[in-house]
Amino acid sequence: MNISDRLKRIAGMVNRCSSIADIGTDHGYIPIFLVKNRVCERAVASDINRGPVLRALANVKKAGLEGAIECRLGGGLGIVSPGEVEGAVIAGMGGYLIVDILEERPEVVQKLQFVVLQPVQHSVVMRKYLYNRGYDIIDEELCYDEGKYYEIIKARFDGVSRDAEDIYYEIGSKLLEKKHPLLKEFIHFKIKKNEAAINAIKEDSESARLRKTVLIEWNAKLKEMLECL
Ligand SMILES: C[S@@+](CC[C@H](N)C(=O)[O-])C[C@H]1O[C@@H](n2cnc3c(N)ncnc32)[C@H](O)[C@@H]1O
Repeated sequence: MNISDRLKRIAGMVNRCSSIADIGTDHGYIPIFLVKNRVCERAVASDINRGPVLRALANVKKAGLEGAIECRLGGGLGIVSPGEVEGAVIAGMGGYLIVDILEERPEVVQKLQFVVLQPVQHSVVMRKYLYNRGYDIIDEELCYDEGKYYEIIKARFDGVSRDAEDIYYEIGSKLLEKKHPLLKEFIHFKIKKNEAAINAIKEDSESARLRKTVLIEWNAKLKEMLECL
């Protein structure tokens, strides 16, 4: 089974453990990879939709791992009981949905040793939520796969609410600390995107002028960050 660089990076953030839940598993590739490579002894592969659960089940059978991976139909973290698994992966969904999934089941989240999260969009919302709502961000990864950047965040609930400067909700401090090899190009990509937005703004209202000023200030902060790398 060949899996994408994104999925390999997600799997690379998972601790060696006895059990993991992959929420929104779709094809089931993450739990299959983790069990096959002996990162986890067993896994629960779950999805809110029947089609993906059947797809995961077929792939699990093909890999001969029915004894180690259980496929479950259901939404979010409600498919496991508190303490049933050591860690959870929630990947390939929007940041708002990931936040909802974490928020819905505090009794499960509080017993997890780690969560590995990979938002496809709104990573800022997700990072801010993690900081403010009692999660310690343990590690972050960045990868470029099929023409897109993906941020992967590993965190643990410890109940301590944290604050950070807004810029650290956009650019993970762990990526900065470890001077991640892709970080410079990721920041350049963001600056370019903001510049395109700045140039497209017609200053025909107070809110448009404000938006332009905010983006200009934001780009100045991103450029400052580049100087530290
Ligand atoms: C784009 S796929 C991502 C699959 C895989 N995790 C990955 O990263 O490649 C998103 C999957 O999440 C499932 N999903 C959406 N909302 C969910 C929820 N609340 N709980 C569980 N699964 C959900 C969808 O049915 C879909 O199969």
